[in-house]
Amino acid sequence: MTTIAVAGKGGTGKTTLAALAVRYLIGKGETPVLAVDADPNSNLGQTLGIDVMLTVGSLREQGFAGQRDIPGGMTKDQFVEYKMSEALAEGDGFDLLTMGRPEGAGCYCFANNLIRRFMDGLAGGYRHTVMDNEAGLEHISRRTTRRTDVLLLVADAGVRGIQAARRVLDLAAEMKLEVGESLFVLNRATDASAVALMPEIERLELPLAAVVPEDPGLFTAEIEGRPLLELDDDAPAVAAAGGLFDRVFSK
Ligand SMILES: Nc1ncnc2c1ncn2[C@@H]1O[C@H](COP(=O)(O)OP(=O)(O)O)[C@@H](O)[C@H]1O
Ligand SMILES: [Mg+2]
Repeated sequence: MTTIAVAGKGGTGKTTLAALAVRYLIGKGETPVLAVDADPNSNLGQTLGIDVMLTVGSLREQGFAGQRDIPGGMTKDQFVEYKMSEALAEGDGFDLLTMGRPEGAGCYCFANNLIRRFMDGLAGGYRHTVMDNEAGLEHISRRTTRRTDVLLLVADAGVRGIQAARRVLDLAAEMKLEVGESLFVLNRATDASAVALMPEIERLELPLAAVVPEDPGLFTAEIEGRPLLELDDDAPAVAAAGGLFDRVFSK
């Protein structure tokens, strides 16, 4: 069982890589997969073709914490588990849990606590867990999950994205995240941009594991609102991500 978390600056391709990881695992029959959308700007559901009806954040707004709503005969833990399972959307070969945006001024502690408790119990029922994150790493801090086997740092083909990936890597070390392996992915690259950026990637000692090309098929899928699960196996980005995931999930 592998837990993989995707991180990096906004707009670099985190959600795309997370969706392609889920797609890869389904294709290999490595199911069921637990997909977790831990970005408040949730859109992993869309890329997986799931209409998200309920988020963990919205459960909180409904008074998730209130003792008085608990039906008789249920313990608080049972109630939390029951409500969380309502927020778990079922796909073909995977389930999706969407964190959403918690109410209030950005304190994720409450939702984090709940999701950690729930996921600790839940994750054991899945072959693999794929977590799409916001840039800041809050949800993969130790409060959310115990261990991340692979941290995928995504940057698009520019110096700023690469430097942001380095900062995320440093942040993970500072937060003492339990990470098995960190891998750097250069996304949306052309041959020329990959060559031009290599010195910076080396200078920052980023653990480069894959170069994923700019793929017009992703743009088309986005415009047409088609889930990435439907992309062809030989689409350039899918093929490149496949090589990466062969390595990630072979352990
Ligand atoms: N390799 C790629 N080729 C073409 N478009 C891409 C590629 N990777 C991502 N995109 C596009 O870039 C945009 C941002 O990607 P997304 O995965 O949503 O980023 P993030 O989750 O980091 O904000 C989306 O429109 C997506 O379709
Ligand atoms: Mg995203």
